[in-house]
Amino acid sequence: MIATDVHGLEDAGVQTAAKTQGVPRIGLEQYYSEAGPDYAAWSPEFNMHFGYYRAGTNPLKREAMLEQMNAEVLARLRVEKLAEPKLLDLGCGLGGTLRSFARRMPKVRLLGLTRVPWQVKRASTLNEAAGCGARMRVIEGDYEDTILPRGSYDGVYALESSCHAHGADKGALLAEAYRLLRPGGRLVVADGFLGARPFASAVQERIYRKLCECWVIEELGELDAFTVKLEQLGFTDIAVEHLQLRVAPSVAHVPWVTLKFLLTDVVFGKKKMTRARWNNVLAPVLLPLVSAPLGPMTYCMISATRR
Ligand SMILES: C[S@@+](CC[C@H](N)C(=O)[O-])C[C@H]1O[C@@H](n2cnc3c(N)ncnc32)[C@H](O)[C@@H]1O
Repeated sequence: MIATDVHGLEDAGVQTAAKTQGVPRIGLEQYYSEAGPDYAAWSPEFNMHFGYYRAGTNPLKREAMLEQMNAEVLARLRVEKLAEPKLLDLGCGLGGTLRSFARRMPKVRLLGLTRVPWQVKRASTLNEAAGCGARMRVIEGDYEDTILPRGSYDGVYALESSCHAHGADKGALLAEAYRLLRPGGRLVVADGFLGARPFASAVQERIYRKLCECWVIEELGELDAFTVKLEQLGFTDIAVEHLQLRVAPSVAHVPWVTLKFLLTDVVFGKKKMTRARWNNVLAPVLLPLVSAPLGPMTYCMISATRR
């Protein structure tokens, strides 16, 4: 049984997304439902993000780097001294980060939000199987517009999910994060952003648009606009860390993982490939062509404190 009231929410706790996506041709729900199981090829723990490389660790061990990214997010939430911290995952995927936090902090209470009903079901099953279903809950909702109680979280984070939010400054997502945090609470966002450098060519800009379409992103956050919005909302202690080199060793796994996936699933497994699944294969291959040092896309971890 899944705990039904970890956060005093009951079932109607969060509004379902009503906004429609503009540019992308496959919707978010369809994309993550069809391509979702394929993330197992990237991470058996369903960490649907890139890894954080620390000097001295083995860059061949992808899952360890993905897990280290979870640890880095948790460290920046600064909740280790709280008796029973309450954390909210804005765009939790299949809950890999939630389960990592539950393993690291026995008293933590966790809530994950996703817009994808299939992910809610699958993540809840994985949480139960991991034995941490009582301390965490995954629910369907839109992180730009929840009806979760104001000021009720010690920390909120968005790990490679803010890219799906509206606008270059991701204003609606950040405003909701501010509303949900208690005074002194912490926000951590780790994701790809567009930096100040322009596209090198029109072709590179077209590749960027294709990448966004594949991953159902309207537009990436623009770093300057994002940090200005944080200030405008009243966040303090804003820190921007450029992690391009930290994530590069895990990005380097993409060709091998892609090849292995194509051979096992498509060529020999003969599984039906839908457009969403092909998009999920193509996007990471395009990524290095638009990322630093070739292009304007760069990976950052941004943390801030609610006033
Ligand atoms: C690439 S996955 C990352 C999942 C997870 N953070 C991880 O690192 O494993 C992006 C997630 O963001 C979620 N998402 C995108 N837009 C959302 C929205 N408006 N509200 C809630 N979740 C959203 C998707 O449903 C998906 O679960």
